[in-house]
Amino acid sequence: MNNAPRVLLHPGQLHQRAVELGKQITHDYTGKDLHLVCVLKGAVMFLADLMRQMDIPLTLDFLAVSSYGAATETSGVVRILKDLDTPIEGRNVLVVEDIIDTGLTLDYLMRTLDERSPRNLRACVLLDKKEHHEVEVPLDYIGFEIENVFVVGYGIDFNEKYRYLPYVGVLNANSN
Ligand code: IMP
Ligand code: MG
Repeated sequence: MNNAPRVLLHPGQLHQRAVELGKQITHDYTGKDLHLVCVLKGAVMFLADLMRQMDIPLTLDFLAVSSYGAATETSGVVRILKDLDTPIEGRNVLVVEDIIDTGLTLDYLMRTLDERSPRNLRACVLLDKKEHHEVEVPLDYIGFEIENVFVVGYGIDFNEKYRYLPYVGVLNANSN
């Protein structure tokens, strides 16, 4: 029996979208100093692919927020587990995140970062479960809109597993 997650977005599609978004972001930030803030750990593969498609000088920082842990639904409670290394005051900040589900995590994050007075604050997300938003989150760049299914791979985990997969897949009920 094959329990591998069912492919939803294959590597070619992910690459192609990173190329497109990279071009768009390059265009939008030409002449500005771009500061990328990657949300650990789920967004790292997307970040790595996206970043090398950007033809502009940029700087990079990471932060980590509390996740679902072993559960597949959000608790609504968000906590910063690892904060940024450098201040973002006066900078053009683009947050790179893996998935928006209810929107609670990004909403909290954007409000927290906004209090630090960046010059400009935007968000780029790989996957958007648009139908499942509970709060309104302004997304400036979206990789793909997806159905309300639990996905793994391409950096995204279930209970810390599956991050290494080169594709985005849907977890089978009997996967482990
Ligand atoms: P939200 O706060 O409900 O928008 O959830 C956002 C966070 O939950 C994302 O940054 C992911 O880390 C995690 N998440 C949401 N949906 C999934 C999924 O389908 N697979 C794995 N993690 C998910
Ligand atoms: Mg996340």
